[in-house]
Amino acid sequence: MIIAVDGPTASGKGTIAQALAEHFGLPHLDTGLLYRAVGRQVFLDGGDPDNGGDALAGCAFPDELLLDPHLRNEETGGLASRVSVHPAVRQALYDRQRRFATQDGGAVLDGRDIGTVIAPEADAKLFIIASVEARAQRRFLEMRERGVHVTKLEIADDLRRRDERDRNRAVAPLSPAPDALVIDTSPLSREQSIEAAIEAVMEATS
Ligand code: DC
Repeated sequence: MIIAVDGPTASGKGTIAQALAEHFGLPHLDTGLLYRAVGRQVFLDGGDPDNGGDALAGCAFPDELLLDPHLRNEETGGLASRVSVHPAVRQALYDRQRRFATQDGGAVLDGRDIGTVIAPEADAKLFIIASVEARAQRRFLEMRERGVHVTKLEIADDLRRRDERDRNRAVAPLSPAPDALVIDTSPLSREQSIEAAIEAVMEATS
């Protein structure tokens, strides 16, 4: 069983994908982390994330980089969004994602283009959305917990910028597969979101 979970930044897709993986006993790949590693590598190399050649060179990041806590920060998220517009970068990361998706026994992958490009044959495709306000509020609480000081307004501006870039890029833009089930987590708690996702997967695969 392949489960594809797509959606914008801070929509809750990561939490949902992880919970689905646990519930159905499947391995999980957060594909955003791969793009984050590329963005981080370009930064470490002193390259330009908007330059296709520099971004492609960043795809040769060492596996240990995936464990770097810097990958989780907002700066790296922004770099990831910038390197991810280059078709050569998406191509370079394709095989790794495809292998993970098609491994024996199945898998859960979350990202932007899992249901459309990486695993269009997925048994269940979820597209997780939430209002900018709800996402900014969640990010704000998360960041405050980590001791990072930013305003909700700054977070909301950054989310809008990233949505805009992810939706409007020429290759594999963020958009739901025609057969994806859309779940709006704005009014839902973490537990309710997970429950809705489990139900949606069961329905799609029954
Ligand atoms: O999900 P995330 O915030 O970790 O993703 C960071 C960036 O990586 C996101 O802004 C766009 C890019 N990305 C992508 O283009 N395709 C994916 N499958 C996952 C992430």
